[in-house]
Amino acid sequence: MDLTDYERAMLDGEHGRAKARAMDLLVRYGEALGAERLVETNNVAGAFNASTPSVKHIVERGMDSVFSELNLDSDEVVEVPRMAASTCQLITGIDNDNWKLQGASEELIGMQREAERYLGARGINMFATCTPYQVGNVPVKGEHCAWMESSAVIYCNSVLGARTNVEGKESTGAAGLTGRIPYWGYHITENRYGSHLIELDTEVDDMMDWGLLGYFIGYAVEDEIPVLQQATHQPNLIKLKHFGAAAASSGGVEMYHIPGVTPEAPTLEDAFGGRKPREVIRYGKAERKATYEKLQSASDRKVDFIMLGCPHNSIEQMELIAHLLTDRTIHPDVQLWVHTPRAIKQVADRNGYCEVITKAGGVVMSDTCPAISRRLPPGVRVIATDSAKQAHYLPAIAKVDGWFGSVRQCIEAAVSGQWNGAV
Ligand code: F3S
Repeated sequence: MDLTDYERAMLDGEHGRAKARAMDLLVRYGEALGAERLVETNNVAGAFNASTPSVKHIVERGMDSVFSELNLDSDEVVEVPRMAASTCQLITGIDNDNWKLQGASEELIGMQREAERYLGARGINMFATCTPYQVGNVPVKGEHCAWMESSAVIYCNSVLGARTNVEGKESTGAAGLTGRIPYWGYHITENRYGSHLIELDTEVDDMMDWGLLGYFIGYAVEDEIPVLQQATHQPNLIKLKHFGAAAASSGGVEMYHIPGVTPEAPTLEDAFGGRKPREVIRYGKAERKATYEKLQSASDRKVDFIMLGCPHNSIEQMELIAHLLTDRTIHPDVQLWVHTPRAIKQVADRNGYCEVITKAGGVVMSDTCPAISRRLPPGVRVIATDSAKQAHYLPAIAKVDGWFGSVRQCIEAAVSGQWNGAV
């Protein structure tokens, strides 16, 4: 791999052992991928204390030891300095406030807080959300990033036009320390053109429509780059957040184009880089219905857990949920968890949305989600969610049955205890 003088000096240990180990990891990783060089990044979103085991390790072996092992893949324990690149923490395993509801112990939350102090002192910003782009980390078009989390990566590449592959714990740790990441995959313009054309033959308008379309496309194109021939209605952040999360769940889609909407596709021709689509795929009413049916893994209409906020809710979604719950009470047999980034929760608190939700019997959670934490209320059998991604993962992870529908259908189920959603 071609390294600059500065990168070579980091590798040789002239800037400390931590950067030497980080560079060693990046060179091994980059060479395995066939990358010829590294690229500078000043935007890293990773997982530094995302899982319970890593928090436990922190106390047992010391913080530097854990970072060395889990974020640098290094047997040598190095003293970890301040991050060189702007770095943030994605979602974590425990809600710092609602940890008791998640069944976490006092000891565990204490460890998480200790880990956060350590990471914070090194400049890792505790956004604690899978949607850093909703709380201030909004890279600009063309900016090279090193992000984890498939729903964030697809948003970063497609909607923002910034450039990242789906990174891991180790590569984001190394990128944070060095400000470098291998130059391959979606960092390279040539790899960002569309492969499949998606023709829409039905209206795609609300959030549920976009989730269904994304889920269909993921199965259809797997890890290729779909291009919507046209949007039937202008999408917004919320709809594209759900669309991308769904496409990245059913397939491995990391980038898409919508001509006239996403920044690298002013026209259909631009989206394909002047080439012909490899395949044309039609999405009509029949495909929508089949996708909807695929997402329903439950048959019992009696629900006991409603999960909203995957990916984490925006403030507009929090307002809608509060509006739908005003002067209503959640069924005694049902638990409702609403997930939003902590920074947005502050605004929702100030606006009174959290009070409405909690007064109705719901819980507003931050920092985490059931799929990542693998913590649900005890005894849950049947869930309902407005997220195709959560409907895809939670039944497999938590051995529950799931209904997928609109926010309104989910709130009605929370109040009545019965699922009455329909396509
Ligand atoms: Fe975020 Fe968890 Fe969904 S990480 S995208 S809320 S599965």
